[in-house]
Amino acid sequence: MSPGPYLLAIETSCDDTCAAVLREDGTLLSSVAHSQDVIHEKYGGVVPEVASRAHVERATAVVREAVAGAGLEMDDIGRVAVTVGPGLIGALLIGLSTAKAVAWARRLPLAPVHHLHGHLAAVWLTEPGVGFPHITLVASGGHTTLVRVDDPNTLHVLGQTLDDAAGEAMDKGARLLGLGYPGGRELDELAETGDPSAYSFPVALRRPGNLDFSFSGLKTALYYLLRDMSSDERQARAADVAAAYRAATVEALVSKLFAAAKVGRVDTIAVAGGVAANSLLRRRLQAEGEAAGFNVVIPPPRLCTDNAAMIGAAALSGPMLAFPDYLDLEASASLALGRLPG
Ligand code: KG4
Ligand code: ZN
Repeated sequence: MSPGPYLLAIETSCDDTCAAVLREDGTLLSSVAHSQDVIHEKYGGVVPEVASRAHVERATAVVREAVAGAGLEMDDIGRVAVTVGPGLIGALLIGLSTAKAVAWARRLPLAPVHHLHGHLAAVWLTEPGVGFPHITLVASGGHTTLVRVDDPNTLHVLGQTLDDAAGEAMDKGARLLGLGYPGGRELDELAETGDPSAYSFPVALRRPGNLDFSFSGLKTALYYLLRDMSSDERQARAADVAAAYRAATVEALVSKLFAAAKVGRVDTIAVAGGVAANSLLRRRLQAEGEAAGFNVVIPPPRLCTDNAAMIGAAALSGPMLAFPDYLDLEASASLALGRLPG
């Protein structure tokens, strides 16, 4: 029996075990993401070895769930895509080994995908007819990067963070405020109830023309503000502090994205990555983007946080390795955008 026209995508670069099935025309048929938050919560951060073991335990079940969720059987899969970096090396290797096993057993081709390319692809997965070039801000737990996307496979980094990622800043802020894990979403929810003008946090690198980000000073400012408060005051003012902290983080993201869009003379701007689930960021981009005449693409939150659907969407426009050329393919913990492991 010849393989079917469906693509199975696998993503395990950090602490979510994800699989998805797409049709060759890019239509998403199923997407499953198994979060490990409850496992890592007690450590206050992702423990790489624990993440790898959890991926081993879940990968097969998550793949089967994605295939069944698409109304298909494994024999309907005609190619496989997988994240090969950057990320936690142990976690990446579990996804890569799973993908190789599925592809090799059926003599299928395999597409290696860069994790950030996946986040960028969430934009054309959300809006299939999106215009090129466009500029996308990828803001996640590990990355804050502005990219001009000339076509689905031609990417130019315009700016990036010099220290913490935006999601990392959100998570560290949430931790200082004693909120839940990982923290970004919890801080966002608390901030909705606070007054952002109650405090003023610094927004770094505001010089015109500078498209890089820095969030480490923001986190330090929060540390000193909270240190000088009594515990009663900290509790009473937590929502205002969260609102002001979120406002400064979002201001940096929004202002740099608009600055990049003006320099790049594009019609379309977009946001992707876990922080793109932030409610203030979504509201501001929608309102200010449309007021400035941009087409604004904001993927639904399930396509912003890590998922395999975006990896499949990126794979459909990227390189595909024929059977059995991928058997010695490696994963890479640190990988520049546009590069794949040798
Ligand atoms: O893209 P992602 O799922 O994983 C990485 O590739 O890092 O992003 C996870 C990040 C975490 O830092 C998380 O706290 C943040 O996205 N995040 C949010 C929100 N939801 C998730 N940050 C701010 N507001 C949210 N609503
Ligand atoms: Zn990510």
